[in-house]
Amino acid sequence: MIRRFVFGTMIETEAILQKPSACMDSLPYLKCSEESLSFSYEMGETDRIYGLGENVRGINKRGWIYESKCSDEPEHLEDRRSLYGAHNFLIVDGRETFGIFIDYPGILTFDIGYTRHDQMTITPSDWNLDLYLIEGDSLRDIVRQFRHLIGRSYIAPRWALGYGQCRWSYMSADEVREVVKNHRDLHIPLDMVYLDIDYMERYKDFTVNEETFPNLDKLVEELKEEHIRLVPIIDAGVKQEEGYSVYEEGMKKGYFCKREDGTPFVAAVWPGKSMLPDMLNKEARDWFGSQYQFLLDKGIEGFWNDMNEPAIFYTEDRLKEVIEEIGTFRGQNLDLDKYFYFTGLVQGLHNNRDYYKQFYHNIDGRQIRHDRVHNLYGYQMTRAAGEAFERLVPDKRILMFSRASYIGMHRYGGIWMGDNKSWWSHILLNLKMLPSLNMCGFLYTGADLGGFGSDTTEDLLLRWMALGIFTPLMRNHAARDTRRQEVYRFENIDGFRHLIGLRYRLLPYLYSEYMKAVLRYDCMFRPLAFDYPADPHAAQVEDQLMLGEELMIAPVCQPNADGRYVYLPETMKLIRFKENGSIEEEILDAGHHYVKVALTDVVLFLRPDHLLPLSQGGQYAEEIDFEQLSYLSYVKTKAVYEYYHDDGCSRDYENPAHLSTIIIDTEGNVTIE
Ligand code: GLC
Repeated sequence: MIRRFVFGTMIETEAILQKPSACMDSLPYLKCSEESLSFSYEMGETDRIYGLGENVRGINKRGWIYESKCSDEPEHLEDRRSLYGAHNFLIVDGRETFGIFIDYPGILTFDIGYTRHDQMTITPSDWNLDLYLIEGDSLRDIVRQFRHLIGRSYIAPRWALGYGQCRWSYMSADEVREVVKNHRDLHIPLDMVYLDIDYMERYKDFTVNEETFPNLDKLVEELKEEHIRLVPIIDAGVKQEEGYSVYEEGMKKGYFCKREDGTPFVAAVWPGKSMLPDMLNKEARDWFGSQYQFLLDKGIEGFWNDMNEPAIFYTEDRLKEVIEEIGTFRGQNLDLDKYFYFTGLVQGLHNNRDYYKQFYHNIDGRQIRHDRVHNLYGYQMTRAAGEAFERLVPDKRILMFSRASYIGMHRYGGIWMGDNKSWWSHILLNLKMLPSLNMCGFLYTGADLGGFGSDTTEDLLLRWMALGIFTPLMRNHAARDTRRQEVYRFENIDGFRHLIGLRYRLLPYLYSEYMKAVLRYDCMFRPLAFDYPADPHAAQVEDQLMLGEELMIAPVCQPNADGRYVYLPETMKLIRFKENGSIEEEILDAGHHYVKVALTDVVLFLRPDHLLPLSQGGQYAEEIDFEQLSYLSYVKTKAVYEYYHDDGCSRDYENPAHLSTIIIDTEGNVTIE
C-alpha cells in the first residue's frame, strides 16, 4: 500500500508520473514537526535502514548523517555526507517495516542515528514536499511497489553489458586504435572504448578535435567492424565563445541559466568560462537534447553525461574577489587563522554552495532559484538526452549513463558511481552501493574498476574485476596522471583474460537477470536480508550480495588475502572458476566458512534447486551465442530457471516470447519450455 502525504506545494520533480491522490489521514510512524521542519522516527535497537542509493557507508545506513545534495565529490570517504546522486528513498526494517520516499528537489538531510542512536530525523530545507509511505509484505515487495510508482528503469542495449575501457583521456584516434588492438591481439574481450573530454575541441560539447580525431565517423565505422563502440562524454557546461554555435544559439534563445537580474550566469568548468543550459526548462532541454544528433550522425550509439551536479570550478565574480583578496596578504605574517583563511580562499572556489543561490531556472515561466531544485539538474540533463533519443532514434537502444542523478532519472539512463580511488575500501563501497541503487531504480550501474584516482595495483584491479564482472556497467577507468591501468599493462594478462572472459560466459545469466529486474521492478543485487528475512545473521552481512534469483556473491575486498569468511544462509553449492578454465564444485552447509580464493579465482554460490546458464564466451557481446548454453546446477529435486533472451537491441521488451523455462532434473536432464 502506498500513501502520499502532501506538505506545502512542492516544485514538480516528475519522479512520479501518476501520483496517487493525497492521503488526508494523519501521518503514521513519523512525527512531523513544522517548527523544526523535520520528520522523526524512533528506531528500535535492532532496526535497520536500507536505501539512499548512491552514498557512503554501509548497506545498513544507520549511524551516520546523509545529505541529499548532488555533489562533485571525488573523495568518497566515510566522513562525507553526499556523493553525486540524491536518492531520497529508504526502508525501515525492524519493529515496524515500511518505505519512505521524500519527493523534494532541494537539499535535505537524513540523520539516521547520528545525533541520537535511536532516532532518525529527516530535515528538508523548506516545507514543500510530498512524502510517500509504502507498506508491503516484505522488503522486496516494498521496493517493487516503490519502483512501480517511479516507473520502469532505463534499458541499456545488450552490448553495453560488455567490457569497456576508459581513461581520461585517450588523446587521439591512434591511441584508441592501439587500445583496441592490444585487447584484440591478446584475446581480451572488449565492447567499448570511452572518449573522455579531450576528443572535443577545447572541451566544447558537440564538437570534435579534428586534428587528433579526424573523420570521427570513419573511426566509428572502422571500430564497429571490430565490434567496438566509441562512447563519448558530454559535459553540462557549454563554453562561452563567440562563433561556437551551441553557445551562440543558446544565448540567442535565452536557454542558459541566468542571475536574478536576467544577466547570464557564467561559471567555469573544463573549458574555462561556461554557461549552464537550463535543463529544467522544457524548451532548453529539448534544444540541448537535440544537440546529441551531431554525434548520433557520426554513428555514435552511447554517451556518458558528466559534471552535471552541476560542478562549478568558480564564477567570474568570485574569482575576481578572491584574486583581489589574495593580493592583500602580500608581505603579511600568516598565523594559524590567517593561513587557513588564506588557503581556504582558493579551495573554497570549487563547488561553493553560494553559487547555487546565484542562478535561476525558468520553469514554466516561473523563476526558481537553483538551490531549491538543485538535485534535478543532472536528472534533467540526462532526460534531455533520453527524450531526444526517443525522438531521433526511436527504434534503437542508446547507451546513456550520468554522474549526477535524482530518482526519476532512472527512466532515462544509468549512473556510474563517480570518481572513486584505487583503494581496497572502494571495492567494498562499490558492492554496498549496488543494492541501494537498485532499490532506487538504478540498475544499469557500476564503478570505475581499478579506481579512478590514485595509482592502482595489479592485485587490486584483479580483485575489483572479480566484482565488476557481475555489474551491468563494467568499465575500467582512471584519471589522468595516474598509473595506466588497461589490463594489458600488467604481468598477469592471463588472469585478466580469464576474469573478463568469464564475464562474457556469464552474460546470458547477467542480461537475463538485468532484464527481469527492470521489467519486474525488482533488484538485481539484494542484501542477504531481503532473501532470508528470518535469519538474524543474514541481516548482519555487509560484504556479500544476492545476485539475481540463483546466486550469492562474496568477493574478496582485502589485500594479500588468500580467501575470506563467507556466511551461507542455507546450504549452497560453491562454484569456483579457475584461471586454467577448470570449474570446481563443492556443497557447503549453511553457516560460516573460510573459503580460499586465489587471486584470479571467481567463486560464487548457487542456491539449491537453482541453475546457472553459461555461454561459450566470446570476444564481444555480439559474438556470444545466447542460445547454445551449458549449465551448472545444484539440483535437489528440480532446478527451474526463467530465462530472458531477446535480440538485445530492439524495444519489444515485454514480448512473452523472450521468456523460456529451463528445467534440470536430478538425473541432469535439461528441458527447455
Ligand atoms: C570527472 C569525471 C571523470 C572524468 C573527468 C574528466 O572527474 O567524473 O570520470 O574522467 O571528469 O572528464
